[in-house]
Amino acid sequence: MDDAIAREVISRCRFLATCSDEPGYTTRTFLSGSMRTVHAQVSRWMTDAGMSVRVDAAGNIRGVHAGTTEGARRLYVGSHLDTVPHAGAFDGVLGVMMGVSLVESLRGRRLPFSIEVIGFSEEEGVRFGIPFIGSRALVGEVDGTLLSATDVSGRSVAQAIGDFGLDVSRMADARAASNPLGYLECHIEQGPVLDRLRQPVAVVDRIVGRSYADVTFVGSAGHAGTTPMEARRDALTAAADWIGCVEAQARQANGLVATTGRIDAAPGAANVIAGSCRVTLDVRHGDDATRTAAVDRLRSAAREIGARRGLSVEWSSRFDHAAVAMHPAFVGMLTRAIERAGAPANMMSSGAGHDAIILAPHMPAAMLFLRTPGGLSHHPEESVMEGDVAIALAAGVNFLNELAGEGGSEDPPLHL
Ligand code: GLV
Ligand code: MN
Ligand code: MN
Repeated sequence: MDDAIAREVISRCRFLATCSDEPGYTTRTFLSGSMRTVHAQVSRWMTDAGMSVRVDAAGNIRGVHAGTTEGARRLYVGSHLDTVPHAGAFDGVLGVMMGVSLVESLRGRRLPFSIEVIGFSEEEGVRFGIPFIGSRALVGEVDGTLLSATDVSGRSVAQAIGDFGLDVSRMADARAASNPLGYLECHIEQGPVLDRLRQPVAVVDRIVGRSYADVTFVGSAGHAGTTPMEARRDALTAAADWIGCVEAQARQANGLVATTGRIDAAPGAANVIAGSCRVTLDVRHGDDATRTAAVDRLRSAAREIGARRGLSVEWSSRFDHAAVAMHPAFVGMLTRAIERAGAPANMMSSGAGHDAIILAPHMPAAMLFLRTPGGLSHHPEESVMEGDVAIALAAGVNFLNELAGEGGSEDPPLHL
């Protein structure tokens, strides 16, 4: 694949990174104003590539390149367009731009299957503390509980959808086709493995499971100058105790990662003892039993710390998902596609979450990882290498060709 095409993909990602809710940074949360600007631009690229474009009720932008026949099965290709606060330009966005580029590379040629390129509206879970709202809409998992979750300003998911001008009652139209061919997601690795190995790309075999919770310590606010230390029920110091325990527990179990990435103390003044303190918890492991046992231990630890300090503890689970394996036939096809592109097909698991974890239980799914220089991601300096993007694009073209039965493989493509 031409390096000029890889350069164009990178330049599109960098352009979209300028569409932000926050000047000077890339921050784009679920259905924010800057997502509207991104949709307008992505829609232009999709339309110019010959796709018919719509935004579904969950705010996913979707462009369809029709197959040769009316009832052709559908291959979904994409990733997400939302970002973490102060993000880089490539997490998620690269997979969407590669999908558009793959359709462009067909130059109007029809395949025996349709291709639907999707830019998911919400994968990171930043605005509502719940990830994957976009991909969950495709598999019918956006229910009343999810729609009524609120952000820090008290707006619900349903209201955010209405605020963006979308009709929440049409959520069923966001569902994927009933007999999908599968899902392909290209994504930066977001870690150091490929960079250390000096390898451009890898095939993902599985994505680790994860649990999210909000843990709130509730004590009593009080005067910082007049309340003796022994009379305090300080929610922030209780949370601090527990945060240390989260890190210590994670260090004890091989492969377990646990993060308390956000803490909100109230009322939040230097001269007021914190009356309540909410901490986010993110726990991940490739083995589900190890993950759930760790979460149980951390829940007990929070209760013990609360009891010892005279506080109550509210534990609110936000998201739980088992580890998911990618589909063996798709993994095989992607492996051959990478080898035909002239690169070794390394295999690795993903510690990061991806939309593929939601789609994989419902359709064959595969993921291609691209090297992330320095392993730096969720960071403004996140980057990719042009040559790696060119290899990934060439592999994508090979993947489409084999799926279309034109790949020259001895193995037959998935039955169309
Ligand atoms: C998504 O970036 C995640 O948290 O893994
Ligand atoms: Mn991310
Ligand atoms: Mn991502």
